[in-house]
Amino acid sequence: IMLIGEAPGREEVQAGRPFVGKAGKNLDSFLEATGLAREELYLTNVVKFRPVRISPKGTVANRPPTQEEIALCIPYLEAEIGQVNPRLILTLGNVALQAMLGKEAKIGQYHGRAAQTADGRTVFALYHPASIIYNPKLRQTYAEDLAQLRAYLTKRDKSC
Ligand code: URA
Repeated sequence: IMLIGEAPGREEVQAGRPFVGKAGKNLDSFLEATGLAREELYLTNVVKFRPVRISPKGTVANRPPTQEEIALCIPYLEAEIGQVNPRLILTLGNVALQAMLGKEAKIGQYHGRAAQTADGRTVFALYHPASIIYNPKLRQTYAEDLAQLRAYLTKRDKSC
């Protein structure tokens, strides 16, 4: 199962691995809620470098990737998906969802359910865990989506 995030942050760049910073800490509660084991997950990001800006305080801060940066990285993501050949792709947030389903896809419409990509891969869309920090109203929705994912995985396992 491939989990696709947006882009690495400072700690991910330092470690050379995705989801080792704050977002990585969230991963444990994610695994608990979905019943997935860490070994079942291949973690990656759409954008392969850290998009940064200089904050008003003069420090280096994260920023969302631009459409140009996303477009630059998509061929690498597609190659990675081809090599890993996951049976399921979990997208976190709009950037990952749109990388898989196109720019018209919106997380508000797709979260908490499975959808098919143009080339027949199955994608299950979730809000980005960081969005809950900015929008606490999403907390309940995110929890419900994880429960939906758990039910979806259980049903799939039974039918395999
Ligand atoms: N860390 C990552 O590697 N990806 C994200 O999307 C967020 C944090």
